Amino acid sequence: MSDSERLVAAAREARQRAIAPYSGFAVGAALLTREGAIISGCNIENASYGLTTCAERVALLKALSEGHRDFVAIAVVADTTAPTPPCGPCRQLLWEYCGDIPVILANLTTTAAEHRLAELLPHPFDRRLLS
Ligand code: THU
Repeated sequence: MSDSERLVAAAREARQRAIAPYSGFAVGAALLTREGAIISGCNIENASYGLTTCAERVALLKALSEGHRDFVAIAVVADTTAPTPPCGPCRQLLWEYCGDIPVILANLTTTAAEHRLAELLPHPFDRRLLS
């Protein structure tokens, strides 16, 4: 199995743990580190709606809190025909900690698209502007 197939498989598995009673829209994500570790996440919703955390952010914050710092790809899985890309805030956070990684978008059966994060977040605001 290739790295991207492993990553998509981990995101599909994580999606099954989504806590999405309000939207009914379950998402899984999985990050691959340079060392070959895979850290996954699912969306976790809240009755306040606004405190919902996306699958990508759950995976990223889990990974960072476990000490991972070097990421090479992310996969995002939803049960949609059209690929489900990360939302705007997730793109910003992924850019901060992962840089221009490939973003693999898949559904339950197929990998539908692959983009670089720089394509999804052109002209980013980041630390280079803070000097
Ligand atoms: N969601 C994600 O987890 N990731 C995405 O890329 C898109 C949206 C979640 C947030 C919310 O729980 C549900 O999907 C509907 O927006």
